[in-house]
Amino acid sequence: MRVRLKGDAICTLVLLVALCSLLYSQLEHLVPVGNKEPPQKKPSITPKISPDPRAPWRPMPPEATVPRQQVTPIVRRTEVANNEVQTTAPPPLTDSAFNFKRYLLNKDNRNFNLLINQPKKCRKTPGGPFLLIAIKSVVEDFDRREIVRKTWGREGLVNGEQIQRVFLLGTPKNRTALATWETLIHQESQVYRDILLWDFMDTFFNLTLKEIHFLNWAAEFCHNVKFIFKGDADVFVNVENIVDFLERHNPAEDLFVGDIIYNARPIRVRKSKYYIPETMYGLSIYPAYAGGGGFLLSSHTMRKLSRACREVELFPIDDVFLGMCLQRINLKPILHEGFKTFGIVKPSAAPHLQTFDPCFYKDLMVVHSLKVAEIWLMWNLLHSPHLSCTQKKQVKKPFQWKRKAQTTQASPLR
Ligand SMILES: *[C@@H]1O[C@H](CO)[C@@H](O)[C@H](O)[C@H]1NC(C)=O
Ligand SMILES: *[C@@H]1O[C@H](CO)[C@@H](O)[C@H](O)[C@H]1NC(C)=O
Repeated sequence: MRVRLKGDAICTLVLLVALCSLLYSQLEHLVPVGNKEPPQKKPSITPKISPDPRAPWRPMPPEATVPRQQVTPIVRRTEVANNEVQTTAPPPLTDSAFNFKRYLLNKDNRNFNLLINQPKKCRKTPGGPFLLIAIKSVVEDFDRREIVRKTWGREGLVNGEQIQRVFLLGTPKNRTALATWETLIHQESQVYRDILLWDFMDTFFNLTLKEIHFLNWAAEFCHNVKFIFKGDADVFVNVENIVDFLERHNPAEDLFVGDIIYNARPIRVRKSKYYIPETMYGLSIYPAYAGGGGFLLSSHTMRKLSRACREVELFPIDDVFLGMCLQRINLKPILHEGFKTFGIVKPSAAPHLQTFDPCFYKDLMVVHSLKVAEIWLMWNLLHSPHLSCTQKKQVKKPFQWKRKAQTTQASPLR
């Protein structure tokens, strides 16, 4: 069984490397002539910050990989980031996408006003809410917020525990759009009372600002909460499983759980969206950090992190930045198999396995990269009285392919 598992892993790895090489060679054809890019040096590992939901994660040995380029930007995060990276007539990529010099110059400018607040969010229930769901969104994404409100992001009781919700927003980077959106977002806030809006530009590289402003907000306005889930708007969250899991923990102790990425290396390939020059981060390995799709923390950890992050210099990748704050307070994040922040990866040997199946989602906590309609559909399938899965709901046990593979079709690997 162990050996077979290992075989599976190696097989997947080999296929992945082959696929990456293919994609990579394709990409090189797209690089315009006259690009001053020096010939690629020794490729480094792409850390697991790739938003590509199809990319399976394997802890790769440093020498075994080619860079996984961001060739399939199909999820939100990419849209939030600068579009220039993917245009047909690409300008000098890095410089237009991200100005490191300017970032470094402005790094100390890290306190922005709260334009829309929900000061009473956590005062509605005596003793505070059990779980605060905090979702990163952008002003323009009204439809995503709406679907989250109507599905997994519902406020109210889950298994007898009080759930509250906030959306975390900055100002739209498109200034022309701002005029109309201002009225709409205020209206939305009036109706739902779940909007937090800060006065910084909502760009990919400003997500770190969102992180620190949210932690400060939570420490000030929601200190009585027991646990926090923080995640993206394009994830599916099984809140019942999360509540179940959290009920076995103490909010007054340290807790930080998610899809933890260990030993990721900074990308030194300038074309990459995640390129980080040595001048900005000199070490060869990032601290352990949680994939941004979603993670859980206790109230105690939230307060500690909010203080710790004030002492950490701004870093343009928010997941990594939070990892740096965790490292500062010496807190080891915990990996949980129920967090699929890179989507559900099909085993290479069973490509026809149906993964958009509520019985998969029943055992999980967070699955990344779902379309609006998929979130709605999955939530309804999961809450349908007709749903019957052969397995009993299990949260503690890691997710395994084997059990499911047996019930659907014979997988040649097992
Ligand atoms: C900004 O918003 C305006 C109005 O919504 C739109 O017409 C324009 O194309 C947008 N510009 C960019 C660069 O997205
Ligand atoms: C972050 O937001 C600030 C304030 O709006 C803005 O000046 C800055 O250019 C933004 N930075 C990035 C990297 O987008």
